Amino acid sequence: MTHVSSLYLHIPFCQHLCNYCDFYKRKLDSAHHQFEDFHQFLKESVSVHQNFLNSHHFTWAPLETVYLGGGTPSLWGEEGAAFFNKELLNLSLAKNAEFTMEIDPGTWTHEMMMAWKGIGLNRISVGTQSLDPQFLKVLDRIHTLEDTLNFLTYLKENNWNYSLDFLLGVPYSQEKKRDIRSELETLLQYSPKHISLYILNARSKYPHIQQMPDDGYVREEYLFVSEFLKSKGFHHYEVSNFALPGFESKHNLKYWRGESVAALGPTGTGYLSLSPVEAVRYKWKVTHPEFEIEKLTEKELSLERLYLLLRTSDGLILGDEFSCVVDSWVQQKYALVNEGRVTLTALGFLMLDSLMDDIFRFEHLVKSR
Ligand SMILES: C[S@@+](CC[C@H](N)C(=O)[O-])C[C@H]1O[C@@H](n2cnc3c(N)ncnc32)[C@H](O)[C@@H]1O
Ligand code: SF4
Repeated sequence: MTHVSSLYLHIPFCQHLCNYCDFYKRKLDSAHHQFEDFHQFLKESVSVHQNFLNSHHFTWAPLETVYLGGGTPSLWGEEGAAFFNKELLNLSLAKNAEFTMEIDPGTWTHEMMMAWKGIGLNRISVGTQSLDPQFLKVLDRIHTLEDTLNFLTYLKENNWNYSLDFLLGVPYSQEKKRDIRSELETLLQYSPKHISLYILNARSKYPHIQQMPDDGYVREEYLFVSEFLKSKGFHHYEVSNFALPGFESKHNLKYWRGESVAALGPTGTGYLSLSPVEAVRYKWKVTHPEFEIEKLTEKELSLERLYLLLRTSDGLILGDEFSCVVDSWVQQKYALVNEGRVTLTALGFLMLDSLMDDIFRFEHLVKSR
């Protein structure tokens, strides 16, 4: 028997649908009916999921990490805490479990926070994105600067461990000279322990597609944030993530290290590591409590592991056969090698996809010789 001790739950409700968002969500119009349907979906999912785990000889161990993502999970409110406790926490939490919820400014109440804290919530991820009202507007966010500062004050005063989401590559940021340094300086006054840094990914129909900053500008923004946060004691421990020592996301580290993470909720994607050379990924459908399964071959798994390890500051030991690829990365300041371990620099993190192409090309070359 193998164990799974991490759970991701996708909660697909938002007050407003931001026009840039890639994630699965529905506008919350009628909380009562939508929650009833969602609860029914989850109840049915739990037994489907249990059969799936049984068929792969997996059992639950006390949960070491729980991550409630969305959507806007906080909109589930106290009713959500009661449902989660009754229907899902029979799985039980491990001692020192990390239990995270994504919360957008303006979507919480003290009572709701207490209800979730009462069942183990101990980490918050705040959908901040920017502290500049003009960019919040461009981003189609409905929260205000005041909403954000109120929430951060509450979190700081009540000693919550929390992370912030911050967006780069925002439309108009180049021409309006977005002052990232001043936004970050203000944010740091509220003592976040962790910051997730995303670069806006715009689809062709995005309304501000013509106002996107150019790649060189976004690259400078990213490198600036990395240097700035490192100078304030944060560790750039993954492409998009920074943490003060000891505050890395345990849940996300499980994905990046190829460990099993179960998932529930529409579009929630789980991963079971069956053996060192076998794994399955499953993604929940949005209309029925069913999922699609993808079996990873040994080859796919080894490339994925390589990609995931390069994403983090763990890095990896690349075999001698790759030494000429790694040497060229070091020369271009994309990587560092320490006692045989290759780790990427901030510039390398930014170039990760093209570095993976180097590996594919090289492998192909070796094979075709
Ligand atoms: C899906 S949201 C869920 C949490 C919360 N509702 C929020 O807005 O922060 C998680 C993160 O994904 C980011 N995100 C959504 N669409 C994105 C896109 N097209 N490009 C980059 N980041 C995106 C959001 O800005 C947010 O930081
Ligand atoms: S609040 Fe978050 S999840 Fe909802 S639409 Fe906006 S970015 Fe997407």
